[in-house]
Amino acid sequence: MKWLQAIQNKLPQHKYAINAKLLGDDRECAWTNLGYWNDATSSYPMACEQLAEHLAQAVQLQPQDRVLDLGCGQGASLKYWREHYQIQDLEAVELQQDCVDKINKHIQLKAIHCQSFLNLKQIPFPNQFDVVMCIDAAYHSDLNVFLNAAHSVLKSNGRLGFHYLMFSDQSLSAKQKIKYAWLLKAADVTWEHLKNEQQLLQTLTQHGWSNIVIQDFSASVLNGFAEYIEIQKMKKKSFDLEQLKIEMTAKLCRKFYQDGLVRYIQVSATKK
Ligand SMILES: C[S@@+](CC[C@H](N)C(=O)[O-])C[C@H]1O[C@@H](n2cnc3c(N)ncnc32)[C@H](O)[C@@H]1O
Repeated sequence: MKWLQAIQNKLPQHKYAINAKLLGDDRECAWTNLGYWNDATSSYPMACEQLAEHLAQAVQLQPQDRVLDLGCGQGASLKYWREHYQIQDLEAVELQQDCVDKINKHIQLKAIHCQSFLNLKQIPFPNQFDVVMCIDAAYHSDLNVFLNAAHSVLKSNGRLGFHYLMFSDQSLSAKQKIKYAWLLKAADVTWEHLKNEQQLLQTLTQHGWSNIVIQDFSASVLNGFAEYIEIQKMKKKSFDLEQLKIEMTAKLCRKFYQDGLVRYIQVSATKK
């Protein structure tokens, strides 16, 4: 059974665990998002910061805001809000215990909760938040549940910003639908949770959100990440399962981008 144990030891501990070093960030509290890539992007951490920066600008983040970061991963965004926006009143929610332990060890926060962000009502927060942000994590979840959870912890006029996937208006054949449902499953995304732009706007409005802004980041995120990994792949000498996971993600990003049916979007909105 030793070989089985060896394989198990090589496998990431959690389904969302990502080897940040293989992605290109070897710091203790690393980024693990897909990044926002443009001509000026010179490294993986820079691409990740750019994605975070777009979200911060969309919610007009201010130093005095009470902020909740959902799915904060290994904590790079928490450091970013601190250093670039002087956020003092900061809490975070993350599913992976390893990430929470690391953040507790290296970053001083009001609180970090090892919990699903779909169950925010179960966390006894002392006060509601001015801003809720979720970088590159919400699309694994049912949008209705995610919106309800965020709504429950925000003050009225509080701002929400997150990334999600959206269908374009292209119609699909039955065969394409089956194929896409499988491709999305591989990325731990449920076909039934995705909507087109009109349905998305309607859902957000019905859930009590206003000032809704949807931005299509497909080229900068999906294609950007796919191209980055393609170049990295050529430089890699060894190969393991963690690398395979990253390369499969990049392949999916490329497929989604090239087919144009699934778009990567940033959404910002205000609680009415
Ligand atoms: C792609 S990573 C992005 C991490 C981080 N936001 C960043 O920008 O580096 C997605 C993170 O969301 C977390 N996540 C996914 N679904 C979650 C949920 N329902 N509740 C809490 N965390 C979740 C994963 O564990 C993972 O750490």
